[in-house]
Amino acid sequence: MARKVQKVQFVETVLRDANQSLIATRLPYDKFEPMLETIDKVGYYAAECWGGATFDVCLRYLHEDPWERLRKIRAKMPNTKLQMLLRGQNVLGYSHYPDDFVKLFVTKAVENGMDVIRIFDALNDVNNLKVAMEATKKAGAIASGTISYTTSPVHTHKKYVEMVKEMKRMGADTICIKDMAGIMGPQEAYDLVSAIKDAVDMPIDLHTHSTTGLAFMTYLKAVEAGVDIIDTAISPFSGGTSQPCTETMAYALRQLGYQVDLDDSLTQKMAEYFKGIRDEFIADGTLMPKSMATDPKCLIYEVPGGMLSNLLSQLKQMNALDRFDEALMEVPQVRKDMGYPPLVTPTSQMVGVQAVRNVLDGQRYKTVSKEIKAYCRGEYGRTPAPVNPTVQKQILGDEKPMTTRYADSLEPVVPATRKKLKGVARNDEDVLSYIAFPNLAEKFFQERKEKEENIVTYTITKA
Ligand code: CO
Repeated sequence: MARKVQKVQFVETVLRDANQSLIATRLPYDKFEPMLETIDKVGYYAAECWGGATFDVCLRYLHEDPWERLRKIRAKMPNTKLQMLLRGQNVLGYSHYPDDFVKLFVTKAVENGMDVIRIFDALNDVNNLKVAMEATKKAGAIASGTISYTTSPVHTHKKYVEMVKEMKRMGADTICIKDMAGIMGPQEAYDLVSAIKDAVDMPIDLHTHSTTGLAFMTYLKAVEAGVDIIDTAISPFSGGTSQPCTETMAYALRQLGYQVDLDDSLTQKMAEYFKGIRDEFIADGTLMPKSMATDPKCLIYEVPGGMLSNLLSQLKQMNALDRFDEALMEVPQVRKDMGYPPLVTPTSQMVGVQAVRNVLDGQRYKTVSKEIKAYCRGEYGRTPAPVNPTVQKQILGDEKPMTTRYADSLEPVVPATRKKLKGVARNDEDVLSYIAFPNLAEKFFQERKEKEENIVTYTITKA
Protein backbone atom coordinates (compact mmCIF):
# COMPACT_ATOMS: atom_id res chain seq x y z
CA MET A 1 0.00 0.00 0.00
CA ALA A 2 1.38 3.40 -0.94
CA ARG A 3 2.32 5.70 1.93
CA LYS A 4 0.09 8.72 2.19
CA VAL A 5 2.21 11.75 1.36
CA GLN A 6 1.71 14.72 3.66
CA LYS A 7 0.80 17.85 1.77
CA VAL A 8 2.06 21.27 2.86
CA GLN A 9 0.32 24.41 1.62
CA PHE A 10 1.70 27.93 1.37
CA VAL A 11 0.40 31.43 2.04
CA GLU A 12 2.31 34.04 0.01
CA THR A 13 2.89 37.21 2.04
CA VAL A 14 4.63 39.54 -0.44
CA LEU A 15 1.52 41.68 -0.84
CA ARG A 16 1.08 42.24 2.92
CA ASP A 17 3.36 41.09 5.71
CA ALA A 18 6.61 40.82 3.72
CA ASN A 19 6.20 44.32 2.36
CA GLN A 20 4.97 45.61 5.73
CA SER A 21 7.97 44.11 7.55
CA LEU A 22 10.66 45.19 5.08
CA ILE A 23 9.47 48.44 3.51
CA ALA A 24 6.83 49.67 5.96
CA THR A 25 3.99 48.67 3.61
CA ARG A 26 5.02 51.18 0.95
CA LEU A 27 4.28 48.92 -2.03
CA PRO A 28 1.76 50.76 -4.24
CA TYR A 29 -0.84 48.79 -6.17
CA ASP A 30 0.59 49.72 -9.55
CA LYS A 31 3.94 48.17 -8.69
CA PHE A 32 2.59 44.67 -8.02
CA GLU A 33 -0.35 44.68 -10.42
CA PRO A 34 1.63 43.12 -13.31
CA MET A 35 2.30 40.04 -11.14
CA LEU A 36 -1.21 39.37 -9.82
CA GLU A 37 -2.25 37.01 -12.62
CA THR A 38 0.97 35.05 -12.12
CA ILE A 39 0.55 34.81 -8.34
CA ASP A 40 -2.99 33.60 -8.99
CA LYS A 41 -1.71 30.59 -10.95
CA VAL A 42 1.12 29.45 -8.63
CA GLY A 43 -1.06 27.22 -6.48
CA TYR A 44 -0.93 28.99 -3.13
CA TYR A 45 -3.40 28.16 -0.37
CA ALA A 46 -3.95 31.92 -0.13
CA ALA A 47 -2.38 35.28 -0.86
CA GLU A 48 -2.25 37.57 2.16
CA CYS A 49 -2.91 40.98 0.69
CA TRP A 50 -4.88 43.21 3.06
CA GLY A 51 -5.29 44.24 6.68
CA GLY A 52 -2.51 44.82 9.16
CA ALA A 53 -1.07 48.18 8.18
CA THR A 54 -2.15 48.17 4.52
CA PHE A 55 -5.42 50.00 5.14
CA ASP A 56 -3.76 52.78 7.14
CA VAL A 57 -0.79 53.15 4.76
CA CYS A 58 -2.99 53.20 1.63
CA LEU A 59 -4.86 56.21 2.98
CA ARG A 60 -1.92 57.91 4.70
CA TYR A 61 0.92 57.57 2.20
CA LEU A 62 -0.10 55.84 -1.01
CA HIS A 63 -3.22 57.91 -1.85
CA GLU A 64 -5.11 54.73 -2.59
CA ASP A 65 -8.59 53.67 -1.61
CA PRO A 66 -7.92 50.43 0.29
CA TRP A 67 -11.32 49.05 -0.77
CA GLU A 68 -10.61 49.73 -4.42
CA ARG A 69 -7.23 48.01 -4.02
CA LEU A 70 -8.98 44.92 -2.70
CA ARG A 71 -11.51 44.87 -5.56
CA LYS A 72 -8.74 45.25 -8.13
CA ILE A 73 -6.74 42.38 -6.61
CA ARG A 74 -9.87 40.24 -6.53
CA ALA A 75 -10.60 40.89 -10.21
CA LYS A 76 -7.07 39.83 -11.22
CA MET A 77 -6.97 36.80 -8.93
CA PRO A 78 -10.13 34.76 -9.38
CA ASN A 79 -8.55 31.40 -8.41
CA THR A 80 -6.60 32.05 -5.21
CA LYS A 81 -8.07 32.76 -1.81
CA LEU A 82 -7.40 36.28 -0.60
CA GLN A 83 -6.48 36.63 3.05
CA MET A 84 -6.39 39.51 5.49
CA LEU A 85 -5.19 40.13 9.02
CA LEU A 86 -7.72 41.61 11.43
CA ARG A 87 -6.99 42.84 14.96
CA GLY A 88 -10.17 41.45 16.50
CA GLN A 89 -12.22 44.16 18.19
CA ASN A 90 -9.50 46.67 17.16
CA VAL A 91 -10.23 45.81 13.48
CA LEU A 92 -7.37 47.72 11.81
CA GLY A 93 -6.88 50.38 14.45
CA TYR A 94 -5.30 50.71 17.84
CA SER A 95 -8.24 50.68 20.23
CA HIS A 96 -11.54 48.85 20.55
CA TYR A 97 -14.51 49.70 18.32
CA PRO A 98 -18.23 49.22 18.84
CA ASP A 99 -19.66 45.93 17.55
CA ASP A 100 -21.69 47.48 14.72
CA PHE A 101 -18.49 48.79 13.13
CA VAL A 102 -16.71 45.42 13.50
CA LYS A 103 -19.65 43.60 11.91
CA LEU A 104 -20.07 45.99 8.99
CA PHE A 105 -16.33 46.07 8.34
CA VAL A 106 -16.07 42.29 8.13
CA THR A 107 -19.20 42.04 5.97
CA LYS A 108 -17.88 44.63 3.52
CA ALA A 109 -14.40 43.06 3.43
CA VAL A 110 -15.97 39.76 2.37
CA GLU A 111 -18.32 41.49 -0.09
CA ASN A 112 -15.34 43.20 -1.71
CA GLY A 113 -13.50 39.92 -2.19
CA MET A 114 -11.94 38.62 1.02
CA ASP A 115 -11.94 34.83 1.55
CA VAL A 116 -9.92 34.20 4.70
CA ILE A 117 -9.95 36.46 7.74
CA ARG A 118 -7.18 35.84 10.25
CA ILE A 119 -8.46 37.22 13.53
CA PHE A 120 -6.19 37.86 16.49
CA ASP A 121 -6.25 39.71 19.78
CA ALA A 122 -3.18 41.31 21.29
CA LEU A 123 -4.01 39.80 24.70
CA ASN A 124 -5.34 36.46 23.39
CA ASP A 125 -8.64 37.37 25.04
CA VAL A 126 -11.15 35.31 23.05
CA ASN A 127 -13.97 37.68 24.05
CA ASN A 128 -12.35 40.14 21.66
CA LEU A 129 -12.47 37.67 18.74
CA LYS A 130 -16.10 36.68 19.05
CA VAL A 131 -17.89 39.42 17.11
CA ALA A 132 -15.41 39.41 14.22
CA MET A 133 -15.48 35.63 14.06
CA GLU A 134 -19.29 35.46 13.98
CA ALA A 135 -19.45 38.17 11.31
CA THR A 136 -16.88 36.30 9.19
CA LYS A 137 -18.89 33.08 9.36
CA LYS A 138 -22.13 34.91 8.61
CA ALA A 139 -20.58 36.54 5.54
CA GLY A 140 -19.47 33.13 4.30
CA ALA A 141 -15.71 33.52 4.63
CA ILE A 142 -13.12 31.33 6.36
CA ALA A 143 -12.47 32.37 9.96
CA SER A 144 -8.93 31.69 11.08
CA GLY A 145 -8.77 31.86 14.87
CA THR A 146 -5.34 33.09 15.84
CA ILE A 147 -2.98 32.67 18.75
CA SER A 148 -0.64 35.62 19.27
CA TYR A 149 2.37 33.55 20.23
CA THR A 150 4.60 34.62 23.07
CA THR A 151 6.46 33.02 25.95
CA SER A 152 6.07 33.88 29.63
CA PRO A 153 5.52 32.02 32.89
CA VAL A 154 1.76 32.10 32.20
CA HIS A 155 1.81 31.10 28.50
CA THR A 156 1.71 27.32 28.70
CA HIS A 157 0.77 24.87 25.94
CA LYS A 158 -2.21 23.91 28.06
CA LYS A 159 -3.45 27.53 27.94
CA TYR A 160 -2.92 27.71 24.18
CA VAL A 161 -4.83 24.46 23.65
CA GLU A 162 -7.70 25.78 25.79
CA MET A 163 -7.75 28.89 23.64
CA VAL A 164 -7.85 26.79 20.46
CA LYS A 165 -10.80 24.77 21.76
CA GLU A 166 -12.64 27.94 22.63
CA MET A 167 -12.00 29.39 19.15
CA LYS A 168 -13.30 26.17 17.63
CA ARG A 169 -16.49 26.52 19.67
CA MET A 170 -16.81 30.06 18.36
CA GLY A 171 -16.77 28.72 14.80
CA ALA A 172 -13.13 29.03 13.72
CA ASP A 173 -12.47 26.99 10.56
CA THR A 174 -8.68 27.00 10.87
CA ILE A 175 -6.15 27.85 13.55
CA CYS A 176 -3.20 30.14 13.04
CA ILE A 177 -0.20 30.32 15.36
CA LYS A 178 1.13 33.81 14.82
CA ASP A 179 4.74 34.26 15.90
CA MET A 180 5.12 37.95 15.11
CA ALA A 181 8.58 38.26 16.69
CA GLY A 182 10.10 35.15 15.13
CA ILE A 183 11.03 33.77 18.54
CA MET A 184 9.52 30.30 18.20
CA GLY A 185 12.20 27.63 18.00
CA PRO A 186 11.91 24.26 16.21
CA GLN A 187 11.24 22.22 19.35
CA GLU A 188 8.57 24.65 20.59
CA ALA A 189 6.93 24.51 17.16
CA TYR A 190 6.96 20.71 17.19
CA ASP A 191 5.51 20.53 20.70
CA LEU A 192 2.84 23.21 20.27
CA VAL A 193 1.62 21.97 16.86
CA SER A 194 1.51 18.40 18.24
CA ALA A 195 -0.44 19.53 21.30
CA ILE A 196 -3.01 21.37 19.16
CA LYS A 197 -3.27 18.51 16.64
CA ASP A 198 -3.90 16.08 19.51
CA ALA A 199 -6.69 18.29 20.84
CA VAL A 200 -8.58 19.31 17.70
CA ASP A 201 -8.93 18.10 14.14
CA MET A 202 -8.48 21.39 12.32
CA PRO A 203 -6.08 22.76 9.70
CA ILE A 204 -3.23 24.65 11.39
CA ASP A 205 -1.24 27.46 9.86
CA LEU A 206 2.08 28.59 11.30
CA HIS A 207 3.16 32.19 10.74
CA THR A 208 6.63 33.33 11.73
CA HIS A 209 9.35 35.80 10.77
CA SER A 210 13.01 35.24 9.88
CA THR A 211 14.13 37.95 12.32
CA THR A 212 16.09 35.64 14.61
CA GLY A 213 17.08 33.11 11.94
CA LEU A 214 15.02 30.29 13.44
CA ALA A 215 12.19 30.32 10.92
CA PHE A 216 13.28 27.65 8.38
CA MET A 217 14.06 25.17 11.17
CA THR A 218 10.87 26.05 12.98
CA TYR A 219 8.78 25.39 9.85
CA LEU A 220 10.45 22.04 9.21
CA LYS A 221 9.71 20.79 12.70
CA ALA A 222 6.16 22.20 12.57
CA VAL A 223 5.60 20.28 9.32
CA GLU A 224 6.93 17.14 10.98
CA ALA A 225 4.31 17.65 13.69
CA GLY A 226 1.63 17.92 11.02
CA VAL A 227 1.19 21.63 10.35
CA ASP A 228 -0.93 22.12 7.22
CA ILE A 229 -0.05 25.61 6.04
CA ILE A 230 3.04 27.83 6.33
CA ASP A 231 3.48 31.51 5.50
CA THR A 232 6.37 32.41 3.20
CA ALA A 233 7.50 35.29 0.98
CA ILE A 234 8.88 35.19 -2.55
CA SER A 235 12.71 35.32 -2.38
CA PRO A 236 13.45 39.04 -3.01
CA PHE A 237 11.05 40.00 -0.22
CA SER A 238 12.01 37.20 2.18
CA GLY A 239 14.39 36.88 5.12
CA GLY A 240 15.23 39.30 7.91
CA THR A 241 12.14 40.80 9.49
CA SER A 242 10.01 39.21 6.72
CA GLN A 243 9.00 35.54 6.24
CA PRO A 244 11.29 32.70 5.06
CA CYS A 245 11.66 32.25 1.31
CA THR A 246 8.87 30.47 -0.60
CA GLU A 247 11.10 28.75 -3.18
CA THR A 248 13.66 27.47 -0.63
CA MET A 249 10.97 26.11 1.64
CA ALA A 250 9.27 24.34 -1.28
CA TYR A 251 12.62 22.84 -2.34
CA ALA A 252 13.49 21.55 1.14
CA LEU A 253 10.04 20.11 1.81
CA ARG A 254 9.98 18.23 -1.50
CA GLN A 255 13.44 16.82 -0.77
CA LEU A 256 12.09 15.53 2.55
CA GLY A 257 9.25 13.77 0.73
CA TYR A 258 6.37 16.17 1.33
CA GLN A 259 3.88 17.17 -1.35
CA VAL A 260 4.15 20.81 -2.42
CA ASP A 261 1.86 21.92 -5.24
CA LEU A 262 3.53 25.16 -6.28
CA ASP A 263 4.49 25.88 -9.91
CA ASP A 264 8.25 26.55 -9.80
CA SER A 265 8.41 28.26 -13.19
CA LEU A 266 5.84 30.77 -11.94
CA THR A 267 7.56 31.41 -8.59
CA GLN A 268 10.72 31.99 -10.61
CA LYS A 269 8.90 34.54 -12.75
CA MET A 270 7.63 36.25 -9.58
CA ALA A 271 11.12 36.27 -8.08
CA GLU A 272 12.61 37.94 -11.14
CA TYR A 273 9.90 40.58 -11.18
CA PHE A 274 10.01 41.37 -7.46
CA LYS A 275 13.79 41.54 -7.49
CA GLY A 276 13.48 44.62 -9.68
CA ILE A 277 10.98 46.16 -7.27
CA ARG A 278 13.16 45.35 -4.26
CA ASP A 279 16.17 47.01 -5.90
CA GLU A 280 14.16 50.20 -6.41
CA PHE A 281 13.36 50.27 -2.69
CA ILE A 282 17.02 49.64 -1.80
CA ALA A 283 18.09 52.45 -4.12
CA ASP A 284 15.72 55.01 -2.57
CA GLY A 285 16.61 53.97 0.99
CA THR A 286 13.19 52.56 1.92
CA LEU A 287 14.58 49.06 2.31
CA MET A 288 17.35 49.22 4.88
CA PRO A 289 20.06 46.54 5.11
CA LYS A 290 19.35 46.02 8.81
CA SER A 291 15.81 44.81 8.00
CA MET A 292 17.32 42.00 5.94
CA ALA A 293 19.78 40.94 8.65
CA THR A 294 19.47 38.17 11.24
CA ASP A 295 19.10 39.50 14.77
CA PRO A 296 19.18 36.95 17.60
CA LYS A 297 18.84 39.81 20.12
CA CYS A 298 15.07 39.39 19.83
CA LEU A 299 15.47 35.99 21.51
CA ILE A 300 16.75 37.68 24.65
CA TYR A 301 14.38 40.64 24.77
CA GLU A 302 11.51 39.02 22.85
CA VAL A 303 10.95 42.31 21.14
CA PRO A 304 9.51 42.05 17.59
CA GLY A 305 11.61 43.59 14.83
CA GLY A 306 9.11 46.38 14.15
CA MET A 307 9.15 47.35 17.80
CA LEU A 308 12.95 47.69 17.79
CA SER A 309 12.82 50.24 14.99
CA ASN A 310 9.96 52.08 16.76
CA LEU A 311 12.05 52.31 19.94
CA LEU A 312 14.98 53.65 17.95
CA SER A 313 12.97 56.34 16.20
CA GLN A 314 11.25 57.35 19.45
CA LEU A 315 14.60 57.81 21.22
CA LYS A 316 16.02 59.63 18.22
CA GLN A 317 13.16 62.15 18.35
CA MET A 318 13.95 62.75 22.02
CA ASN A 319 17.66 63.07 21.36
CA ALA A 320 18.27 60.11 23.63
CA LEU A 321 19.64 57.43 21.33
CA ASP A 322 22.34 56.68 23.91
CA ARG A 323 19.63 55.30 26.23
CA PHE A 324 18.64 52.55 23.76
CA ASP A 325 20.08 49.60 25.71
CA GLU A 326 18.45 50.77 28.96
CA ALA A 327 15.10 51.16 27.21
CA LEU A 328 15.40 47.72 25.67
CA MET A 329 16.14 46.19 29.06
CA GLU A 330 13.15 47.99 30.56
CA VAL A 331 10.75 46.33 28.08
CA PRO A 332 10.60 42.92 29.86
CA GLN A 333 9.94 44.71 33.19
CA VAL A 334 7.02 46.74 31.80
CA ARG A 335 5.68 43.64 30.09
CA LYS A 336 5.79 41.74 33.39
CA ASP A 337 4.06 44.60 35.26
CA MET A 338 1.35 44.64 32.59
CA GLY A 339 0.61 40.91 33.03
CA TYR A 340 2.76 39.56 30.18
CA PRO A 341 0.86 40.76 27.10
CA PRO A 342 2.15 39.34 23.81
CA LEU A 343 4.02 42.15 22.05
CA VAL A 344 2.00 42.81 18.92
CA THR A 345 0.05 45.85 17.68
CA PRO A 346 -1.11 47.71 19.73
CA THR A 347 0.48 46.33 22.95
CA SER A 348 4.01 46.42 21.46
CA GLN A 349 3.72 50.18 20.92
CA MET A 350 2.19 50.77 24.35
CA VAL A 351 4.82 48.76 26.22
CA GLY A 352 7.65 50.27 24.14
CA VAL A 353 6.57 53.85 24.76
CA GLN A 354 6.20 53.15 28.50
CA ALA A 355 9.66 51.56 28.71
CA VAL A 356 11.19 54.67 27.13
CA ARG A 357 9.23 56.93 29.54
CA ASN A 358 10.37 54.93 32.58
CA VAL A 359 14.01 55.22 31.52
CA LEU A 360 13.93 58.91 30.60
CA ASP A 361 11.95 59.89 33.72
CA GLY A 362 14.36 57.94 35.89
CA GLN A 363 11.30 56.60 37.70
CA ARG A 364 8.77 53.91 36.79
CA TYR A 365 5.23 54.99 35.75
CA LYS A 366 5.74 58.62 36.71
CA THR A 367 4.17 59.46 33.36
CA VAL A 368 1.84 57.06 31.58
CA SER A 369 0.13 57.31 28.20
CA LYS A 370 -3.65 57.35 27.99
CA GLU A 371 -3.42 53.95 26.28
CA ILE A 372 -1.61 52.37 29.24
CA LYS A 373 -4.19 53.92 31.55
CA ALA A 374 -6.99 52.42 29.44
CA TYR A 375 -5.14 49.10 29.43
CA CYS A 376 -4.98 49.09 33.24
CA ARG A 377 -8.69 49.94 33.32
CA GLY A 378 -9.35 46.76 31.35
CA GLU A 379 -10.34 48.44 28.08
CA TYR A 380 -8.19 46.09 26.01
CA GLY A 381 -9.56 42.95 27.64
CA ARG A 382 -8.41 40.32 30.07
CA THR A 383 -4.62 40.36 30.54
CA PRO A 384 -2.79 36.99 30.46
CA ALA A 385 -1.70 37.47 34.11
CA PRO A 386 -3.08 40.17 36.45
CA VAL A 387 -1.49 43.61 36.14
CA ASN A 388 0.97 44.20 39.01
CA PRO A 389 -1.43 45.52 41.73
CA THR A 390 1.00 48.16 43.00
CA VAL A 391 1.52 49.55 39.50
CA GLN A 392 -2.21 49.38 38.78
CA LYS A 393 -2.96 51.36 41.95
CA GLN A 394 -0.25 53.89 41.09
CA ILE A 395 -1.78 54.40 37.62
CA LEU A 396 -5.50 54.23 38.43
CA GLY A 397 -5.64 55.55 41.97
CA ASP A 398 -8.98 54.56 43.48
CA GLU A 399 -10.61 53.82 40.12
CA LYS A 400 -11.66 50.15 39.81
CA PRO A 401 -10.77 48.25 36.61
CA MET A 402 -13.70 46.86 34.60
CA THR A 403 -14.46 43.16 34.45
CA THR A 404 -16.87 43.15 31.50
CA ARG A 405 -16.06 43.37 27.79
CA TYR A 406 -15.23 47.00 27.00
CA ALA A 407 -17.06 47.03 23.64
CA ASP A 408 -20.31 46.27 25.50
CA SER A 409 -20.11 49.79 26.88
CA LEU A 410 -19.70 51.42 23.46
CA GLU A 411 -22.61 52.98 21.58
CA PRO A 412 -23.15 52.03 17.90
CA VAL A 413 -21.19 54.32 15.61
CA VAL A 414 -22.28 53.47 12.06
CA PRO A 415 -25.70 55.19 11.78
CA ALA A 416 -24.45 58.53 13.13
CA THR A 417 -21.40 58.46 10.84
CA ARG A 418 -23.54 57.68 7.78
CA LYS A 419 -25.62 60.72 8.64
CA LYS A 420 -22.60 62.93 9.26
CA LEU A 421 -20.98 61.99 5.94
CA LYS A 422 -24.08 62.49 3.82
CA GLY A 423 -22.94 63.92 0.47
CA VAL A 424 -19.30 63.09 1.20
CA ALA A 425 -19.24 59.31 1.60
CA ARG A 426 -20.21 57.47 -1.57
CA ASN A 427 -20.90 54.14 0.09
CA ASP A 428 -20.56 52.22 3.34
CA GLU A 429 -16.92 51.48 2.52
CA ASP A 430 -16.21 55.22 2.75
CA VAL A 431 -18.08 55.35 6.05
CA LEU A 432 -15.93 52.52 7.39
CA SER A 433 -12.69 54.19 6.24
CA TYR A 434 -13.82 57.34 8.04
CA ILE A 435 -14.63 55.57 11.31
CA ALA A 436 -11.26 53.78 11.23
CA PHE A 437 -9.15 56.82 10.29
CA PRO A 438 -11.26 60.02 10.30
CA ASN A 439 -8.55 62.55 9.45
CA LEU A 440 -6.89 60.42 6.80
CA ALA A 441 -10.20 59.49 5.20
CA GLU A 442 -11.39 63.08 5.10
CA LYS A 443 -8.19 64.14 3.35
CA PHE A 444 -8.49 61.20 0.98
CA PHE A 445 -12.09 62.06 0.04
CA GLN A 446 -11.04 65.64 -0.71
CA GLU A 447 -8.07 64.52 -2.84
CA ARG A 448 -10.24 62.07 -4.72
CA LYS A 449 -12.76 64.78 -5.52
CA GLU A 450 -10.07 67.20 -6.71
CA LYS A 451 -8.46 64.54 -8.84
CA GLU A 452 -11.77 63.76 -10.53
CA GLU A 453 -12.51 67.44 -11.13
CA ASN A 454 -9.09 67.83 -12.72
CA ILE A 455 -9.75 64.92 -15.02
CA VAL A 456 -13.08 66.43 -16.03
CA THR A 457 -11.49 69.83 -16.71
CA TYR A 458 -8.72 68.19 -18.69
CA THR A 459 -11.15 66.20 -20.83
CA ILE A 460 -13.22 69.29 -21.58
CA THR A 461 -10.15 71.35 -22.51
CA LYS A 462 -8.92 68.58 -24.74
CA ALA A 463 -12.26 68.25 -26.50
CO1 CO B 1 3.70 38.71 10.73
